[in-house]
Amino acid sequence: MNYIDAFDAPVRNTGQIKLYGPEAFEGMRKVGRLAGAALDMLVPFIKPGVTTDDIDRAVYEFGLDNGALPATLGYRGYRHSCCTSINHVVCHGIPSDRTLREGDIVNVDVTYILDGWHGDTNRMYYVGDVPRKAARLCEVTYESMMRGIAAVKPGASLGDIGAAIQEYAESERCSVVREFCGHGVGLVFHDMPNILHYGRRGEGAKLKQGMIFTIEPMINLGKPGVKILADGWTAVTRDRSLSAQFEHSIGVTADGCEIFTKSPAGLDLPPYA
Ligand code: MF3
Ligand code: CO
Ligand code: CO
Repeated sequence: MNYIDAFDAPVRNTGQIKLYGPEAFEGMRKVGRLAGAALDMLVPFIKPGVTTDDIDRAVYEFGLDNGALPATLGYRGYRHSCCTSINHVVCHGIPSDRTLREGDIVNVDVTYILDGWHGDTNRMYYVGDVPRKAARLCEVTYESMMRGIAAVKPGASLGDIGAAIQEYAESERCSVVREFCGHGVGLVFHDMPNILHYGRRGEGAKLKQGMIFTIEPMINLGKPGVKILADGWTAVTRDRSLSAQFEHSIGVTADGCEIFTKSPAGLDLPPYA
């Protein structure tokens, strides 16, 4: 190892997309497990009557209790420890005094920083009993994410991930949001490459062992269009149809990928009870 390699360790930047070694995978494993555990912690907590501020506080305290900092605190002026996106909110819902009501579906998106590594993950929750169409959307969205993850291996292309997600979601008569994508993650929160949740097989950059990124499809029951509310953050469906999202941070291995943010308790998809 020469001087430059030692200086850049544990990250090698070949062109645009960084390649990470075993120390990075260990760091991502640790922070990913913690972020997954935070989403597990919320399972019994999320019920009718709880506010999204309550969720935000629980995420903040769980992080600090475990030596981690929420990456969203102060990120581009954002002042909260997570995003809470209810019903037709696509992503980046801001925690507030809004009370969760029976029948809502809510996404909580947590990113922690531990030893410099960022673990970014989100999951859907049912508030009490939810309408069948809302549950179906969550199931389709989870399966879309998992099909995207299943496409990840060295030699595959970014387009293979997007195509796997889009083909499944659209076969279930749902639509894929285009305005937001997954991203490289690691020592920085949002890095190259963009991970589109739609696309064509064989197109885009080729995946290599050591790449680390998120897959986080946002899937709508209605049309794919979104708009941003006046707060500058909250993204909602233009047609006010329900939207769902799941997110994992993953690393490309020799023969596939490792999911860093898996639920330690096996609470992957609601209903969790
Ligand atoms: N966690 C989100 C993601 O998956 C980013 C949230 S940025 C915030 O990339 F500022 F809105 F919190
Ligand atoms: Co993300
Ligand atoms: Co996220």
